[in-house]
Amino acid sequence: MFRVGIITASDKGSIGEREDISGKTIREIVESKGYKVEKSIILPDDEKTILDEMIYMADELKVDLILTTGGTGFSTRDVTPEATIKACDRMANGIAEAIRYYSLGITQRAMLSRAVSGIRGETLIINLPGSPKAVKESLEYIIDSLHHGLEILTGQTGDCAR
Ligand code: MTE
Repeated sequence: MFRVGIITASDKGSIGEREDISGKTIREIVESKGYKVEKSIILPDDEKTILDEMIYMADELKVDLILTTGGTGFSTRDVTPEATIKACDRMANGIAEAIRYYSLGITQRAMLSRAVSGIRGETLIINLPGSPKAVKESLEYIIDSLHHGLEILTGQTGDCAR
């Protein structure tokens, strides 16, 4: 069973002014696939705060997967990709590319997400956009392929035959 950390980046959510439906949506989707949510947190759109939480989840909690939602757009407060790039020692661009490619078939505004994906140690970190709709569309598209990537990352298989 893979263990997951969820980070919702939202200034309004972090002070209780907005309900975190996107974080809940991530939880529902990953739990429906048998993943265990180890921690879920709402943080302000602050690069250092988000980076510190990613490092904690990866290095201390040792979760296999960190999924973020929000903070990938063009607002000057949107800094989730910058925190993610700093947290990662290797980028895994294909996942963010796949999400954007699929999402462009749904809305041209998918090009406005600056989301990235990468690896810190044995933890995969993936940015998802902020809206519950975008979270559902993006995560449901990638989740079945993630399983194999996480097996490779955590040394459970090296076999890509299928
Ligand atoms: N991707 C999907 N699949 N569906 C969407 O509705 N919305 C886009 C984009 N990606 C969207 C999407 C919009 S409108 C924006 S502004 C960007 O994600 C960034 O969102 P964020 O700043 O909430 O992270």
